[in-house]
Amino acid sequence: MRLFLDTASIDEVRQGARMGILAGVTTNPSLMAKERGVTYRQRVVEICEAVQGPVSAECVSRELPALLEEAREIAAWHKHVVVKIPIDELGLEATSLLAREGITINMTLIFSANQALLAATAGATYVSPFVGRIDDAGQDGMEVVREAVEIFDRYHLPSQVLAASIRHPRHVVEAARAGAPIATLPFAVLKAMVRHPLTDVGIERFLADSRTYDRESAREQASS
Ligand code: E4P
Repeated sequence: MRLFLDTASIDEVRQGARMGILAGVTTNPSLMAKERGVTYRQRVVEICEAVQGPVSAECVSRELPALLEEAREIAAWHKHVVVKIPIDELGLEATSLLAREGITINMTLIFSANQALLAATAGATYVSPFVGRIDDAGQDGMEVVREAVEIFDRYHLPSQVLAASIRHPRHVVEAARAGAPIATLPFAVLKAMVRHPLTDVGIERFLADSRTYDRESAREQASS
């Protein structure tokens, strides 16, 4: 399973990349609205350079000619850019045309397995069920991930399920067990995955014990 970060913060992307766990990034207009002093294009290009993997950048046009133009423009920003398009009739039409041009699409705002099937059929490379928002609406978000994975597998559809709107570490485990090839995580969820109180206690205890014997290490001697 590949882990993406769901962020427009270049600092978070760089920290994730340094940890060696980052395969890609998803952004959206709400995430970008938190950033200051940088254009969307500049930020997406910076993120592409930092991650060297797929980076989704979302279209906002609501008419076909404008949406096609916006998508082609975004796709030309960097070789790692993935164009993100919300699902509806307009989005499906645009996706089917753009996919045939070789543009990589992440179809977003997926809330049902039927929408996932349509997105895959139209040619989206990535299909993003919004797990947390489905849970918020009183339904089982992970069930949509499970159903989409099963359908794509059974019919050998080349699209990849990208579990999105992840709210906590347990969602990541469940998405992995459901067979989602990708999950995109807020940075806070990544940090929560890394840490465990018993790991902190263990590090402290090993550190304390290591001070009780001679390690014959220059570094250890210097810090003691
Ligand atoms: C995914 O591509 C979206 O940007 C994201 O996961 C939305 O998550 P939210 O429901 O936390 O806004």
